[in-house]
Amino acid sequence: MSNYINPALTITTDKIDSGKISWQTPSNIAIIKYWGKHGRQLPRNPSISFTLNNAFTKTTLAYQAKRNGEKGINLDFYFEGKSNPQFGAKSKKFLESITDIFPFINQLDFSIHTDNSFPHSSGIASSASGMAAIAMCLCTIEKNLFGTLQEEESFRQKASYVARLGSGSACRSVYPTMAIWGKTSAYAKASDEYAVPFIEELSPVFKTFHDSILIASRGEKKVSSTAGHALMDDNIFAQNRYTQANQRFNDLLAILKSGDLHAFGKIAENEALTLHAMMMNADASYILMRPATLSLIEKVQAYREATKHPLYFTLDAGPNLHLLYPDEIRKEVKKFIESELLQFCENGEWIDDHVGSGPFELKIKN
Ligand code: PMV
Repeated sequence: MSNYINPALTITTDKIDSGKISWQTPSNIAIIKYWGKHGRQLPRNPSISFTLNNAFTKTTLAYQAKRNGEKGINLDFYFEGKSNPQFGAKSKKFLESITDIFPFINQLDFSIHTDNSFPHSSGIASSASGMAAIAMCLCTIEKNLFGTLQEEESFRQKASYVARLGSGSACRSVYPTMAIWGKTSAYAKASDEYAVPFIEELSPVFKTFHDSILIASRGEKKVSSTAGHALMDDNIFAQNRYTQANQRFNDLLAILKSGDLHAFGKIAENEALTLHAMMMNADASYILMRPATLSLIEKVQAYREATKHPLYFTLDAGPNLHLLYPDEIRKEVKKFIESELLQFCENGEWIDDHVGSGPFELKIKN
């Protein structure tokens, strides 16, 4: 079990140069859902997601030598150009929790500037892209200051491990195309501690898949993912759910290799509804879907029935519907969205996204 605890990552030079690192890191959408965790953010079942392209976070992390005598973490946090104490407190807590992995955090003062490509409070989870971006920045600081993590694979693996500690699903955002997180007999390389890429074996049809995100509601969620995961601990269906997720993961892996869209859609939709069912049958029951979510689902099912087009949906822990489909039907789907679905979207809003090439470092002048 790797834990990346490394006291050697302490700066030993007298003078510490200041620096600035910037990464653009995408969000991801899970097909087999991670829901339920234990220990230090470890998953109860394996999950797999598409990495998105247009829904991303841009984060610039600036650091300088810690001012003398000050204890604790000094972090100024700006979201979309404005100081944001709420996000700042969350990020500070994250940095505090990983000083054993990056001891140099205690020797520096930080400022973080972050922007999302998707509209503020559009109901799109920003923690996956946001936490992955901070993890990429920290690994880059390590690489620059200590000469470690030179190899792409070791860099991504550590970034994924660190991102996981910030937000579980974030660990899958460090890779292009698709990523697997969680131990499974179906994929020997998979780990509970970090995600691994799933690209070479993937059928080409999925490599250019689309995800059109229909904003059913922009409102903030009533129940956070953290609280949702915790409710799984006492859910009487939890063990069966984990068994089901493992079984579906095995089935889906074969489907992703073969390119069977019908079988893919069946699992994707059932996973989305199962995730929400676990919320609804929790002891402190709650519903994150909105009436518009159900109207959109009915429209998609009717469209599929009428056209036989391979158009499927999934849901995150929120009300917005993600439409998944191959590139070959993009024109028809766009027309369908515009003529029949936008009426159910808040302010007619949707995000036209697709499978992406993963995070990349933005070059900035220090
Ligand atoms: O990463 P968290 O703790 O916000 O959990 C999110 C879990 C889901 O988005 C609902 C599913 C998933 O696997 O991404």
